Amino acid sequence: MSSKEWIPFVAANLSVNSAGILELAGCDLQKIANKYGTPVYIYDEDALRRQCQRYAKAGQNYRPGVEAFYAAKAFLPLAMAELVNEEGLGIDVMSGGELYTALKAGVSPKRIYFNGNNKSPQELREAIEAGLGCIIVDNFFELELVGDLAQQAGITQPIQLRINPGVEAHTHEYIQTGQLDSKFGFPLLGEVAHRAAQVAISHPNLNLLGFHCHIGSQIFALDSYAAAVKTMLEFATEVKRQTGYTWEELNLGGGLGIRYTEEDTPKTVEELVANIISFVSTGCAEYNLPLPKILLEPGRSIVGETGLTLYTIGSIKTIPGIRTYVAVDGGMPDNPRVALYQAKYSAVIVNKADQNAKHISFCSR
Ligand SMILES: Cc1ncc(COP(=O)(O)O)c(C=O)c1O
Repeated sequence: MSSKEWIPFVAANLSVNSAGILELAGCDLQKIANKYGTPVYIYDEDALRRQCQRYAKAGQNYRPGVEAFYAAKAFLPLAMAELVNEEGLGIDVMSGGELYTALKAGVSPKRIYFNGNNKSPQELREAIEAGLGCIIVDNFFELELVGDLAQQAGITQPIQLRINPGVEAHTHEYIQTGQLDSKFGFPLLGEVAHRAAQVAISHPNLNLLGFHCHIGSQIFALDSYAAAVKTMLEFATEVKRQTGYTWEELNLGGGLGIRYTEEDTPKTVEELVANIISFVSTGCAEYNLPLPKILLEPGRSIVGETGLTLYTIGSIKTIPGIRTYVAVDGGMPDNPRVALYQAKYSAVIVNKADQNAKHISFCSR
């Protein structure tokens, strides 16, 4: 039987074989559990490559270009860094560990951008010594530090400034990152962000490539990006008026929502990119700004739908009239989203995949 009409959405490319066993991309998941043990993450490599290729292709007709930097935090074993590199995407890292992995995978330092709100002096030194394509500077402390370290190294370090655009993306409040009280970026309050731009522009060892923002994750409504673009255009216009500086790059972060359950109806990569190009092109004409290269930092929209986690069921506890708990050999560390912000997942029993199931809710308490 190959019908999967009743299978809840766990990952793309699922099917059920004639023995009633669930398969991902044609691989028998029972055999994988037997061979590798559980818990185990399984990814469909072809699907991962396709997602990278979609981002690589989606903005092809826009000049000066759209480039995607895979957000390493979504999933970065060495093999993933190699795959992303082979598919032509850059990598957005958030820590010295991710930087190490990306470099180890052979990613050109110029194709690595370094994000984060509390990079240590040691991490920044390593990034500068490696010759990273860009450090995305989050705050004044870091701006001064990167300037000093670049000076000591005798180089000019390319940077972007992360701006907090004060935009509340339509997503769970715990994964909004662009609202005014967010801990990320220079806030657009008074002259704070403008002052950061002035410092960056006038520093002899810093090369300001442009501005960055990331408004949140699991975003389904593209008008959140329209609001972010508008705010960034207004900011860039004011910086241009004050200093004459114009951007080369506009980095709009990640955030495209994905399917975790049947109810989720995300936009496609192509819709996201086409809309962003339209917002930026129209806005630049209106504000009389040069078209920037558009950078994106997709994370979950590259990996999230391409894989699943296999667990083994252990104890089953029925609390009469209330609930049945089915315990597996995994928990909060691998599924923190459930407890953190009420995220929902779907589950399927691999060796009973041809039998219909009662509703299962996923809980990691
Ligand atoms: C700065 C930055 N860029 C990109 C991402 C990736 O976001 P997503 O996985 O929603 O695409 C994140 C996620 O938190 C982020 O903080």
